[in-house]
Amino acid sequence: MKEYYEDKVAVVTGGASGIGLALCELLLSLGAGAVVLADLNAEKLKAETARLDGAYPGKVLGIQTDVTKQHSVASMIAQAAEFGGGRIDFLFNNAGLALVKPFDETTDEDWKFAFDVNFYGALYGIRAVLPVMRSQGGGHIANTASGIAFAPMALQSMYSATKAALVGLTGSLRYEFWDENIRFSTVIPGTVATPIWDKAGGAPESAITPQESARGILRGLAANERVIIVTDADREGAINAFRPEAAEGMDQYLLNVARQRREGKTVV
Ligand SMILES: NC(=O)c1ccc[n+]([C@@H]2O[C@H](COP(=O)([O-])OP(=O)(O)OC[C@H]3O[C@@H](n4cnc5c(N)ncnc54)[C@H](O)[C@@H]3O)[C@@H](O)[C@H]2O)c1
Repeated sequence: MKEYYEDKVAVVTGGASGIGLALCELLLSLGAGAVVLADLNAEKLKAETARLDGAYPGKVLGIQTDVTKQHSVASMIAQAAEFGGGRIDFLFNNAGLALVKPFDETTDEDWKFAFDVNFYGALYGIRAVLPVMRSQGGGHIANTASGIAFAPMALQSMYSATKAALVGLTGSLRYEFWDENIRFSTVIPGTVATPIWDKAGGAPESAITPQESARGILRGLAANERVIIVTDADREGAINAFRPEAAEGMDQYLLNVARQRREGKTVV
């Protein structure tokens, strides 16, 4: 898969932590020409950009970005294109929040914020990068959803809804832009041990590492997969999501998750 990334320019939102950071490191190790970390967390961004720039001098740029703000994303993409010599070959819309809250406690403001961060963040990125990709004759946009888009889980209604919306957006755009050589893939990264689980008391034991997830993502992207599903568990969930024969089993499984979560357990 090296040739797909060699000398290419990539932008990764949420690039200062977890899966995004692992993607940045792997892209650089595969010979990417320039990698832009776009993240809201200034402290992590500074530290990780400095670390990666030390290992790959001149190839790394950190840009503080709030994906919930259209102007922030547009300005980040403009700076990234300048850093990339006018190109952006890959945009990873990876920034996201887990948004755990009982539905009863969610407000309209919560829902608006949920869509701002997990859905509009990606939409703003797509809008901003399309002219760059068009002018260079193509590119690849990877939108990170979640297995939860296929197996929606209790106490995460906002996460389930925003990620399902992102799957719909990505699938539709894949064919709208195919003939312009601008590729779209949905990423289902697996259950991954990252700081996103901190508030839930840590990742489940079954979690894979960010590096394993990043490898699966970049492999699937190089193969231009429509939906890149990194783990077998998520693949099974996606296959069973709408299969009538699996309906009863899915109900049992998801009900069990709901009951355990209500008892405060971290289960997926
Ligand atoms: N870890 C998992 O098990 C898992 C499973 C399925 C999907 N995902 C998805 O993978 C993506 C990456 O998650 P992760 O597990 O690496 O989490 P993480 O918390 O380690 O990283 C997410 C990054 O996004 C950044 N971010 C948050 N809000 C932002 C904003 N408004 N603007 C810019 N950056 C912002 C954070 O600062 C953080 O650096 C997310 O979209 C998440 O929903 C993760």
